[in-house]
Amino acid sequence: MAENPAYPVGLRLTGRRVVVLGAGQVAQRRLPALIAAGADIHLVSPAATPSVEAMADAGELTWTRRPYEPGDLADAWYALIATSDTGANAAASAEAEAHRVWCVRSDDADAATAWTPATGHSEGVTVAVLTTNAKGRDPRHTAAIRDAVVEGLRDGTLVAPHHRTRTPGVALVGGGPGDPDLITVRGRRLLAEADVVIADRLGPRDLLAELPPHVEVIDAAKIPYGRFMAQEAINNALIEHARQGKAVVRLKGGDPYVYGRGMEEVQALAEAGIACTVVPGISSSISVPGAAGIPVTHRGVAHDFTVVSGHIAPDDERSLVDWAALAKLRGTLVILMGVDKIGAIARTLMAGGKSADTPVAVVQEGTTAAQRRVDATLATVAETVLAENVKPPAVIVIGEVVTVCPDSSPRASE
Ligand SMILES: C[S@@+](CC[C@H](N)C(=O)[O-])C[C@H]1O[C@@H](n2cnc3c(N)ncnc32)[C@H](O)[C@@H]1O
Repeated sequence: MAENPAYPVGLRLTGRRVVVLGAGQVAQRRLPALIAAGADIHLVSPAATPSVEAMADAGELTWTRRPYEPGDLADAWYALIATSDTGANAAASAEAEAHRVWCVRSDDADAATAWTPATGHSEGVTVAVLTTNAKGRDPRHTAAIRDAVVEGLRDGTLVAPHHRTRTPGVALVGGGPGDPDLITVRGRRLLAEADVVIADRLGPRDLLAELPPHVEVIDAAKIPYGRFMAQEAINNALIEHARQGKAVVRLKGGDPYVYGRGMEEVQALAEAGIACTVVPGISSSISVPGAAGIPVTHRGVAHDFTVVSGHIAPDDERSLVDWAALAKLRGTLVILMGVDKIGAIARTLMAGGKSADTPVAVVQEGTTAAQRRVDATLATVAETVLAENVKPPAVIVIGEVVTVCPDSSPRASE
């Protein structure tokens, strides 16, 4: 006779007694989900792994330090039997059956009355995968299916729009420095669910090519602004599309709040009464040096790093940067938008006392196929940038961290 399939169900265990017998690797793997479910966990085991012990120390479960004894399963709603003693497991399993307690057994799935599915989570949904019956049990296969579904939902390759909870509005998504793999999973999912994407020139533009044909992709730089400022025109475009009931993603390079004017857009949307969510991104200020082999801090070399915008020259009255103070810092200086003004910046730092020999690296188009790194010193950086024809976008790193690891980054010409 064909075996009946297992019946899938979600147990709501908040405050309900769950008994766990054994505190080895199996219990260690299963306990976090039981804790997350709010179960009232009673662990019975003479010894435990350090991780399980830490859960007991943190008050996440009650631990009785002895082997299983008959009666341990009384009043339990659910049990996990995972000791290394098969006899004790069988006795506990019989007790569970007698008390009608659903029980999972680590040593004998056939004898168990319940199975633990391979589970994963993605944005308010639990994906749980079970094999249909004992004959077909293949835990690696179920785990692989779980991984494929969860990964697909997270990175947007498996599109499952939220029909009930998806509300029109704007998501300000930090896209990271350019490599399409360096966007967050949340950002990628929102992108996959968007009706309209308003994108900057910087960031993971390759991802735009993957969007389904119905998605309207707008280049922020090409929005006509007539009597408005360019930023106002972008704000208006966001508001207009959101008011049409669309899910709008504003895709930005790096992090929306690092020289990204993110807060201006958040404020404009708030004034217009439009819901907005902000998704952080990996800023180029740290990731681009890293991609070129430069750590912004390094033990014994630099204990601080300062990120500065170089788009306004140090002697310009609009500058808000205290360059004289920066010249006195021992740590790393990371300059964004500084290619055009690097001559004036280097001169000001040297005039403020920074050594002319301070190592400098300029990393252009970091994390993309066109990445290249040019090394110099504070004294030579301006002429090097000109001679090497370095163009924005580039991150300039000033400080001893530049020499921690010799240039190992791929160059555009290679
Ligand atoms: C307007 S700022 C935006 C910064 C962005 N919000 C971030 O967090 O990375 C633009 C500057 O970021 C730097 N930048 C951004 N992406 C870069 C990349 N892939 N390679 C080098 N520099 C980059 C350059 O200095 C560029 O001029």
